[in-house]
Amino acid sequence: MGAISFKDQLLVFLVVSTLALAHSKPLSSWEIHIKNGLSNGQALFVQCKSKDSDLGKQTLSTGAEFKWNFKVNIWDTTLFWCYLRKPNGHELKFDAFWVEKKTEWLRVKCDGNICNWTVEDNGIYLKDNSTNEDEFIHYWKFPATK
Ligand SMILES: *[C@@H]1O[C@H](CO)[C@@H](O)[C@H](O)[C@H]1NC(C)=O
Ligand SMILES: *[C@@H]1O[C@H](CO)[C@@H](O)[C@H](O)[C@H]1NC(C)=O
Repeated sequence: MGAISFKDQLLVFLVVSTLALAHSKPLSSWEIHIKNGLSNGQALFVQCKSKDSDLGKQTLSTGAEFKWNFKVNIWDTTLFWCYLRKPNGHELKFDAFWVEKKTEWLRVKCDGNICNWTVEDNGIYLKDNSTNEDEFIHYWKFPATK
C-alpha cells in the first residue's frame, strides 16, 4: 500500500502542533539556594537530585550555602528534592523545587525565581519574598531504626 491514512496524518499533525506549542513558551530559569544555618559549627550534609540529575554530595560548614541553576523542562515536570543530614544523624528529605500548575505558593515565596532555603536546628525554612521572613516548612525526622 504505502498511502498514509487520514488517521496517521491526524496523529502527525497533533504531535507536531503539541511540540510547537510547548516550544513557544519560554522556559523559566530558577536558582535554588540551600544554606547551613545550624548552630555550634555543625556541618550539614546535602544531596539534591532530580529525575535526570544528581547534584552530588555536599558538606556545608555553618553559614555556607549550596546553590544551582536550571531551566524547567518543556513538559513542566521538573522536580528537585534534597536529602539533608545533621551530625547527630537526624535526616530530612524535602522537595526543593517543583513546577506549580494550580497553586502559587512556591512562586510567591521565590519571587524573582530564587528560592532561599535555610536549614536550622529544628528544621528547614523557606524565605518568603513577600514578607522577607523565613517561614518554617519541615521538621527533622529521626533516623530510621538500625
Ligand atoms: C535570596 O537570596 C539572595 C541572596 O543570596 C537575594 O538576592 C534574593 O533576593 C533572595 N530571594 C528571595 C526570594 O528571598
Ligand atoms: C519581592 O521582594 C522585593 C524586594 O523586597 C520586592 O520589591 C517585590 O515586590 C517582592 N515581590 C513580591 C511578589 O512581594
